[in-house]
Amino acid sequence: MSTGYGIDMGTGNLKIYSSADGSITNEKNTIAIVNKDQMYAYGDEAYMMYEKAPETIVVSFPIINGVIADFDNMQTMLFELLESKLKARIKGSDIVIAVPTDITEVEKKAFYDMFVKNKNKARSVLLCEKPLADALGMGLDITLPTGVMVVDVGADTTEISVISLGGLVLSTLLPYGGNKLDDSIVTYLKRRFNLLIGQKTAMSLKEEIGSAMGGLGKSMTIVGRDVVSGLPIEMSVDSDVVYDGMKDDLENISQNIRMLLERVPPELAKDIVASGIYLTGGSSRIRGFSDFITNVTNIRVNVCENGEESVARGLGAVLSDEKYRRFGYSMKSRIFS
Ligand SMILES: Nc1ncnc2c1ncn2[C@@H]1O[C@H](COP(=O)(O)OP(=O)(O)OP(=O)(O)O)[C@@H](O)[C@H]1O
Ligand SMILES: [Mg+2]
Repeated sequence: MSTGYGIDMGTGNLKIYSSADGSITNEKNTIAIVNKDQMYAYGDEAYMMYEKAPETIVVSFPIINGVIADFDNMQTMLFELLESKLKARIKGSDIVIAVPTDITEVEKKAFYDMFVKNKNKARSVLLCEKPLADALGMGLDITLPTGVMVVDVGADTTEISVISLGGLVLSTLLPYGGNKLDDSIVTYLKRRFNLLIGQKTAMSLKEEIGSAMGGLGKSMTIVGRDVVSGLPIEMSVDSDVVYDGMKDDLENISQNIRMLLERVPPELAKDIVASGIYLTGGSSRIRGFSDFITNVTNIRVNVCENGEESVARGLGAVLSDEKYRRFGYSMKSRIFS
């Protein structure tokens, strides 16, 4: 039997499901290049170098806003991870790749070409709409005539979708997610305290003491640069400050969910009200985010456990469960034959 790999190329993290042992590998989707074209490091190791590398080493993220921005580096890193780290034999294996729904066919084709334009030919290469994989990864049976709303808040995208009878009724892809929250924390600390911090520090603040509700009462000591004196200083930051920095973005995401809800046909809306909204993606871990969304939409929110991996888990279901196989489709049968 051939091995199957389910690939979720996220803006922040690359997740790979392997059918050999049912495992999911999760690495930062980052590559470090030296001398303009040689790979120096990739994944978590390359991410450690981000914001710390000298000019000769360029650390970059090959996926931007959910689509491939740097094809060659994405391909280099993906095959390095598959073949060197996971010891995958691409030749003869089955591949399913998750793609955002609300992007162009040309952008989807780039994901497909990642494997098709390679000397080691896979046995089959299929694409799967990301919201469907998300729902399968959350254990939902999407083949039923029941409306399901899935919200995946990742690193650089937020995908809001409504599914029924195994198909997408509505889907919208917002070009921001957790990274935007980090940016907003950086901007807020600069404006309020004249303190300049790096993206990684902002991300730690968000993950360690961030919350979508005020009054958490936690604090964290960080180091930044005082904009006035130009010197590095240490400062204790309160969770309410992080909340103040993030709240406009959280409101924006929640309002977009509300706007999509307003377009849902009434019979499906009834189902969504009954079962609640399903929230996933790494940023679904923000404390109190589900309550924040409920306050805006008036609908209960179910938070997925291990949200970063729901897409990869769903791709696993497409690869291994005959019932869900049809959710993988070939690009060959579309306009680019
Ligand atoms: N405990 C946490 N609290 C808040 N945010 C978190 C937490 N853990 C992870 N995140 C955020 O989740 C995001 C990564 O999630 P995920 O892996 O789902 O994104 P992605 O799939 O790479 O991106 P995208 O789907 O947008 O292309 C990052 O922005 C990260 O900061
Ligand atoms: Mg994602």
